[in-house]
Amino acid sequence: MELQRLTDRLGGLAFGGDYNPEQWDAEVWKQDDELMRRARVNLATVGVFSWALMEPEEGRYEFDWLDAHLDRLHAAGVAVDLATPTASPPPWFTLAHPDALTIRPDGTRLTHGSRDTYCLTSPAYRRAARRIAAALAERYGDHPALALWHVHNEYVTPCHCDHTAAAFRVWLRARHGSLDALNEAWGTAFWSQHYTSWEQVLPPRTTQWHHNPGHVLDYSRFWSDETLAAYREQRDAIRAHSDRPVTTNLMVPDYQNLDLWAFGREVDLVSVNHYPSAPGIDAAAHAAFDADRARSFAGGAPWLLMESGTNTVYAGDRILPKEPGDILRHSLVHIARGSEGALFFQWRQSRAGAETWHSAMVPHAGPDSRTFREVTAAGEAIARLGELAGSTVRADVAVLHDSDAWWALNVDGLPSGELAYHPALRRAHRALWDAGLTVDFAHPEHDLNRYRVVLAPALFLLTDAGAENLRRYVAGGGTLLIQHFGGIVDEHLHARLGGYPAAPLREALGIRVEEHRPLAQGEEITLSDGSTGSSWSESLRAEGAEVLAAYTHGMLDGSPALTRHAFGSGHGWYLSTRLDDAGYTALVGRLLTEAGVGPDLPGLPAGVEAVTRHAPDGRAWHVLINHLDEPVPLPRPGHDLLTGGPVSRLPAGGCAVLRAL
Ligand code: GAL
Repeated sequence: MELQRLTDRLGGLAFGGDYNPEQWDAEVWKQDDELMRRARVNLATVGVFSWALMEPEEGRYEFDWLDAHLDRLHAAGVAVDLATPTASPPPWFTLAHPDALTIRPDGTRLTHGSRDTYCLTSPAYRRAARRIAAALAERYGDHPALALWHVHNEYVTPCHCDHTAAAFRVWLRARHGSLDALNEAWGTAFWSQHYTSWEQVLPPRTTQWHHNPGHVLDYSRFWSDETLAAYREQRDAIRAHSDRPVTTNLMVPDYQNLDLWAFGREVDLVSVNHYPSAPGIDAAAHAAFDADRARSFAGGAPWLLMESGTNTVYAGDRILPKEPGDILRHSLVHIARGSEGALFFQWRQSRAGAETWHSAMVPHAGPDSRTFREVTAAGEAIARLGELAGSTVRADVAVLHDSDAWWALNVDGLPSGELAYHPALRRAHRALWDAGLTVDFAHPEHDLNRYRVVLAPALFLLTDAGAENLRRYVAGGGTLLIQHFGGIVDEHLHARLGGYPAAPLREALGIRVEEHRPLAQGEEITLSDGSTGSSWSESLRAEGAEVLAAYTHGMLDGSPALTRHAFGSGHGWYLSTRLDDAGYTALVGRLLTEAGVGPDLPGLPAGVEAVTRHAPDGRAWHVLINHLDEPVPLPRPGHDLLTGGPVSRLPAGGCAVLRAL
């Protein structure tokens, strides 16, 4: 079946957000129609948490209220992204199926009263989810308002119940074939963990001390596959009745335990939610990180920012406001990187309930507010960018991302508590972002030849195939940076013997690491080039590589810290400590210079983004975003789609979208 493209249906980029009209009355709905028109909203996500209304008792569906909203939205010119409500089963469901409730690792059985409280592996839950997805698809599959299907919401809840144990065993049999192979892979010969029947194998529940690392890693892989299977079931139930694309909104931050490469292959359109964790320029860098990841998981195809907050920065125990102008700037950070629009959670700020204090497009204060004025301005701006629909983004540099490597760094018993995966990736991305580059993410086993520079900041786990691929990449002319504790274990978390990293990679790097020497918290180690390292150091030997900086400290005095190896027609770099910020930025800058890589639009200061979207017919657009508090002259003037006129400078905090000539 030929699927309808979202932007074809909308006639341009998407603008809008989650719409939960069931929280309001007819008076407010009337106002919503008018305000959506003012804000140029063309897409509303409906039904995300509406299970209790859609199916008030088991098997009895009530859709009249939803018909009315879809018809009303359609009449108001707003298309619908219709969600299956399966992230929030109603109380009747959990009372009827207590075995479908989440069990925590410590055995606690959760109860209803919040959301996301269900077990994905429970047959009752899966049946109910498939049924309601099919019922919705049957009724609305060709509704004229329908533009997109939104399966579930942020698949996020792992479970450790008996259903999960049974499903885990099925998965383990398929992966390992036999108990002997499982015992070998998990290294159960130690600590008397040897399994003699499949029934003995459980999800990693609370235990006395370190969990077996192979067990924990396999559980993460299993949970991701199980989640994908649950998604597929709903998707297929929908496909039987509808030709509109199907997505599920992914969380590109790290708490969603999913292999997003796999999800990227199964959705018709990758969609993601983004909530920054720090204000100011850090929020923009964070948005760029998530947007680059979303595009990469989409295989470079257009994708969609499904949710962000108009005024939401999740900073620990508080929700900080965004800065004036951020609504448009942050939306453009995503659109620049391939998003087909910008959507928010949610349209109208809740008056009651669990999310009363989350920001929205229409705040408690109503339309006479800074937020709504900015929303309207952003809606008008994005409505002028229709010609960007379907265009894509190119990058010369990549950061490696592998869920196995991430999960591997979450196991117990690692030599340092400072080996977190995503902070290391964020730092590598930030150094490239500061240098003005557009960044792809790639899997270590992908074809990397199109990238001039590849950074591998936290590649603890690396398969033989990955190590060989990286060796080939360097031999073929690539520039690769492997950072400390990289290439250390194989896919079963078995340590590489005879020196780290994995052998084919060692060849490309021209080094052999003999010993890891984690540093104490706060301890620093000095390097001969004047930089400092922290958290980690290694004792290594150059085997052909050139030593660019050596440790000047204690037992490692004189031993290589940073090396570069000319291998084939490329260069393999190795960094064996966590460099200070200035040192790391300088190192990444040096790699880029040596590889001859620069920004799309040279001449802009750090803090001003320029990302190019390319159409298949050769047209291109530069999206420019000034995150600085001062105006910035443009290296070359151009025609700005946002104003419809010529532009030669960006005001403080200003944006422009130039047709590239
Ligand atoms: C998202 C979630 C929404 C809403 C939002 C609040 O992660 O999908 O339902 O809770 O956060 O910021």
